[in-house]
Amino acid sequence: MTSMTDLPLFLQAATGIDTRTAPVWFMRQAGRHLPEYRALKEKYAFWELCRNPELATEVTMQPVRRYGMDAAILFSDIMTPLPPMGIGVEFRPGPVIDEPIRSAAQVSALRVPDEDEIAPFVADTLRLLEQASPVPPIGFGGAPLTLATYAIEGSGSKEYPALRAFLRTHPAVAHALLEKLTETSIRYLRMQVRSGARAVQLFDSWAGLHDARTYAEFALPYNRRILEALGETGVPRIFLAVGAPHLLDQVATLPAEVFSIDWREPLDAIRPRLPAGCTLQGNLDPAALLAPPDAIRSAVTAVLDAGRGGPHIFNLGHGIFKNTPPENVVIALEALRAYDRHAG
Ligand code: CP3
Repeated sequence: MTSMTDLPLFLQAATGIDTRTAPVWFMRQAGRHLPEYRALKEKYAFWELCRNPELATEVTMQPVRRYGMDAAILFSDIMTPLPPMGIGVEFRPGPVIDEPIRSAAQVSALRVPDEDEIAPFVADTLRLLEQASPVPPIGFGGAPLTLATYAIEGSGSKEYPALRAFLRTHPAVAHALLEKLTETSIRYLRMQVRSGARAVQLFDSWAGLHDARTYAEFALPYNRRILEALGETGVPRIFLAVGAPHLLDQVATLPAEVFSIDWREPLDAIRPRLPAGCTLQGNLDPAALLAPPDAIRSAVTAVLDAGRGGPHIFNLGHGIFKNTPPENVVIALEALRAYDRHAG
């Protein structure tokens, strides 16, 4: 007989159970802060690692093996569905777009690939993870406006002036692009769940660039459509908007079980502003992992204290820095595992 508590700890918290210990995983846990990842990078380029299911499975498992994380985020990138749409992407090391999207003709030429065409290697990786991983695999995708940020700007940037001008100069073209990105993302994420992802996270990494009016027009409706479509799959939906405390009232209307919160505001200030019963994920400042041991422990405890009063998945507020010493991650995890969320 299975009871609720036979569920892995991560899925208990993701489905609304106020667990005694907070489950933990870190955004970008698989990647450049790990020496075992850097060793593989000497032999393989980033896309080669992503597109080879055995290697992608190995990289996904590296942080799970080393740290005992409670979830295994798929090793891939939010850019993965763009090449099959007709947008070329290279990594140097951040994404660089071959021909940035700046015209209606370029948008009309983009394809919306079928579910099975988008990334068969991701389907295979998730199937391998079902066997290889003792903890639930998390699938993920980029929010349409965050994907469009790279597609239009052409690469990472501090202020994204080309994107922000484009939204105001060619709003109809921007919407046409966002439509195609939304439909592709729905297919891509459904495929991930069919292939074994036990939860999905939508990364709106560049949400914080925008004022509330721009976000309401170009981001929120597309995010809602993706999350609604994923509701049918039954897996917990995690939504992350980075740098966006000013957008929290909009974010709170999205259909998600879990809201991932960056480090800018404490979780006890956020929880009352989100739907009752939802799970909070976060929100240690990744910079805290560059501090001395006592500062790490006190920062972890502060996050755990603020996360009480409802379900909590411990995570960073955003991705781990590549210069994070692995031993500092261990110090954080020891503090976390010693913490009883139900204690008086
Ligand atoms: O451990 C994990 O989280 C799984 C893998 C993962 C990667 N990218 C691997 C990666 C995930 C979940 C992502 C998501 C991603 N990619 C986001 C959303 C998360 C966020 O940080 O906001 C974004 C915005 C991208 C785009 C991207 N890809 C950037 C900005 C960069 C360069 C900066 C960096 O952190 O390295 C990448 C490249 C990338 N994606 C690397 C890795 C491990 C480094 C490439 C290399 O090893 O050479």
